[in-house]
Amino acid sequence: MSYREVYEGWKSDPEAFWMKAADAIDWDTPPSRALNDSNAPLYEWFTDARVNTCWNAVDRHVKAGRGDQVALIHDSPITNSTHKITYAALKDRVSRLAGALRAKGVETGDRVIIYMPMVPEAVEAMLACARIGAIHSVVFGGFAANELAVRIDDCAPKCIIAASCGLEPGRVVHYKPLLDGAIELAEAKPEFCVIFQREQQVAELIDGRDVDWHGFQAGVEPADCVPVEGDHPAYILYTSGTTGQPKGVVRPTAGHLVALHWTMKSIYDMDPGEVFWAASDVGWVVGHSYICYGPLIAGNTSIVFEGKPVGTPDAGTFWRVIADHKVKSLFTAPTAFRAIKREDPKGEFLGKYDLSSLETLFLAGERADPDTIEWAQDKLGVPVIDHWWQTETGFAIAANPLGIEKLPVKIGSPSVPMPGYDVQVLNDEGHPLPKGELGAIAVKLPLPPGTLPTLWNAEERFKSSYLSTFPGYYETGDAGMIDEDGYLYIMARTDDVINVAGHRLSTGAMEEVLASHRDVAECAVIGATDALKGQLPLGFLCTNAGTNRPDEEIVAECVALVREKIGPVAAFKHAVVVDRLPKTRSGKILRGTMVKIADSQDYKMPATIDDPAILDEIKLALQGIGYAKA
Ligand code: COA
Ligand code: AMP
Repeated sequence: MSYREVYEGWKSDPEAFWMKAADAIDWDTPPSRALNDSNAPLYEWFTDARVNTCWNAVDRHVKAGRGDQVALIHDSPITNSTHKITYAALKDRVSRLAGALRAKGVETGDRVIIYMPMVPEAVEAMLACARIGAIHSVVFGGFAANELAVRIDDCAPKCIIAASCGLEPGRVVHYKPLLDGAIELAEAKPEFCVIFQREQQVAELIDGRDVDWHGFQAGVEPADCVPVEGDHPAYILYTSGTTGQPKGVVRPTAGHLVALHWTMKSIYDMDPGEVFWAASDVGWVVGHSYICYGPLIAGNTSIVFEGKPVGTPDAGTFWRVIADHKVKSLFTAPTAFRAIKREDPKGEFLGKYDLSSLETLFLAGERADPDTIEWAQDKLGVPVIDHWWQTETGFAIAANPLGIEKLPVKIGSPSVPMPGYDVQVLNDEGHPLPKGELGAIAVKLPLPPGTLPTLWNAEERFKSSYLSTFPGYYETGDAGMIDEDGYLYIMARTDDVINVAGHRLSTGAMEEVLASHRDVAECAVIGATDALKGQLPLGFLCTNAGTNRPDEEIVAECVALVREKIGPVAAFKHAVVVDRLPKTRSGKILRGTMVKIADSQDYKMPATIDDPAILDEIKLALQGIGYAKA
């Protein structure tokens, strides 16, 4: 069947489409129907089924006789080690960890925060939670104590599983002080913490609260898989919104299983036994869907990579991993390729490795710029497939579905909507726009299985953030267009979210931190274009009247404050002190115009601007730090 036939087939009978996809899952109680619209505009999928995610990701492959197949490969150029775990071993390790968690009182529905670097134990911790129906929430290691504390308070975990440290090039990230600091800051205290000690730094445990990863598993009864209801939350993943309070995206169990399994063949063209590598981090949605769950549910081998595209040790690392493990499909963010291209523009490292196993490169997480796509295509000699999705959806909204039909690639477009998504481009009044016109991208409700049914403990926020602007639609927060052939183009965000090295960050959250500095009266943060990371945050500070400290001192403190409060991942390194911020007459800060000035682009003088002269001041200040070239 062609893509068009599959898509139209879904559209004419979504219920039949998803019930058929559900056949690929091992159910304890099969669903009697797919969609539950009894509470519209909130939807659920496979509500009356009972199922266990860990069974489908691990045990069933062992039962089917594939226990000796490698499930996970930990490849860590940072520690110079590689370690393989078979499905049979994974089952043993996960059931023991799950048993130990249960022995300490963790039950179905309890939340467990996981704060770990790229070690296989992070994936095992996720699966162990799924095994007993506990709801995990993985927090990215590049977030600081304060961000961890916000998440602890929001989901009130019974337990936190953390590593003693993470390893960044040239620096050990001491997780334990961050964890202790976060628990100190948080009001909701976990009952206990499990610490995975790494040899690079053995952390001191707090008596009565912390247990050792290995020690607490000694002699426990391994846990079997506990079936849960179809709409039971598999996990919560916090993502940036427009304020400092992150949104807790809820992932429903059954829809997640069905949708991810469907994507592994239909989008990624993966068959059981083949090697899939998502070079991301378990702290992001890409890591959840395509380092942990997707490949394992489909019986693939998945790579847990602890390194960077460059500098660990060089720009050939990706090629070395592909060659060593016979990777069929690589999935990463364009920024990783920009980093490699910058170090090795001629692709000289490529010649050193046998890349014959590689069939496709998938890119997502940020806009894939044509230069990067063309360079990758040229150097690797394989199709480069851009696809577009979000933490909220958990899998691609638009892609080129290789396992169904390889459609012509149009550079600059993540191709076409996937079954489940009726994508529309709307004007401000919510009316669909003609082909080729730019507008807000929205998806007609209901969203497909596996996408967020709500936000954790925040149903009203879910409705106001996603469902209220365009009644009957899910608002993606992205703007773009659809061309004559039905290909989508994603051009920009419609909110304060910026994308830095494939990491989704909120300028609003950074503004909240800056505003807390004692000398800052008012501030704004924008995302300026960056050749490597796509965007970089840039701060504008207006100091309090009477502040007579040097600007550089205040800027340095603000940079340090964002790193301390949000974390190094914010990559907030530049700010300028200005007298005033450009505003409309009604007081709205003209961030869009500031972005254009920073990027040295032409801009139209906003008709509603309060005082046009401010823009010249902004330009001058930006020129002082290398932006807004004349
Ligand atoms: N734990 C602690 N700190 C972390 C971290 C983690 N897991 N991940 C990143 N950081 C730190 C970095 O060390 C860096 O610190 P620094 O300011 O002291 O240098 C800071 O956060 C910013 O990180 P990043 O923006 O990633 O920059 P980088 O210079 O370390 O690496 C790239 C740049 C492009 C190589 C890197 O971003 C990359 O490999 N991206 C690949 C794509 C990806 O992972 N996307 C995720 C979603 S798909
Ligand atoms: P995240 O939730 O971290 O996955 O970030 C999702 C956001 O990243 C989307 O809403 C887009 O703004 C952006 N994004 C992700 N993939 C793409 C893509 N292929 N092209 C353009 N933007 C993308």
